[in-house]
Order: sequence, then structure tokens, then C-alpha cells
Amino acid sequence: MSQRTLVLLKPDAVRRGLIGEIVGRIESKADWRITAMELRTLDRSTLEQHYAEHQGRPFYEPLVEFMASGPSVALVVEGERVIEGVRTLAGPTDPIQAAPGTIRGDYGTIVRENLIHASDSTESAEREMKIFFPGLV
Ligand code: PPS
Repeated sequence: MSQRTLVLLKPDAVRRGLIGEIVGRIESKADWRITAMELRTLDRSTLEQHYAEHQGRPFYEPLVEFMASGPSVALVVEGERVIEGVRTLAGPTDPIQAAPGTIRGDYGTIVRENLIHASDSTESAEREMKIFFPGLV
């Protein structure tokens, strides 16, 4: 089942020079393809749309502030079961709970700076792709 997903390499990943490492892991998976990619500092209104469902939660403000603190890389990845697959590569939200071999397990320690976002369903992927790549069909 070919799918598309929206991935963000968060400001910590970019600051730490991990773009190549993380993109490499994604590109290494058989038949997955990057079909859009952009380095950009995300503005507050983009982040408010992206994280709308979390508004009001205690981590929301620090998360938005962190996500606006420097450039991120937004990507669209296409391929077989890519929605579940990128989340498996990423590991659980809390990097301390994430197994070695996952991106968060190998590189993260604190929850806010967990390196990568990946859409969690086909509906989220469609919604998020429109926010970051409005020209995409
Ligand atoms: S939930 O309840 O399952 O929807 O939450 P979850 O998917 O784990 O997290 C939603 C996004 O919020 C981020 N998050 C946090 N950021 C900062 N501090 C804390 N404590 C925290 N807890 C969760 C988490 O990384 C998710 O962001 P994205 O960008 O989707 O990874």
C-alpha cells in the first residue's frame, strides 16, 4: 500500500548536523522516495495550524517556541506503508523510552527535542502536507 507522509526534521536535528543521517535512514528503505523537501524556519502561524490539536496542553507553548527557534526540514516521503514506517524509524515520543537503532533512541534525551515529527495517519498526512507544501497535488 503506497502512502505519503509529512516529516519534519526539527530545529535540534538541523542544529546538530543530523539532516544527512536522518534523511539517509529514510532514503535507505526500499522503494521509499522523497518527493518534496524544504529547509525553512517555521513561523508561528504555520506551527499553530500544525499543532492545533495540542493547543492548551502544558507542552504546547514550549513546543511551538522550540519549533520556531531555528530552521527545520520539511519533507514528503512516499512509499510502501511509509506512515507507520517513518514512525517506527523515529521511535516513541520520549527518546529515553526509544530503543537504540531508532532515530530518537540513538540521538535524543529530552522529550521536546525529539528530532523528528512524522504524520500519524493518512488523514493527518493529507492535512499536514497542505500546511507545509500547499502547492502539492
Ligand atoms: S499524544 O497525546 O499522543 O497526541 O501526544 P504525542 O503524539 O506524544 O505528542 C504530541 C506532540 O507534542 C510533542 N510533545 C512534547 N513536546 C514538548 N514537551 C513535552 N513534554 C511533549 N510531549 C509531547 C510530541 O513530540 C509531539 O510532537 P510531534 O512534532 O508530533 O513529534
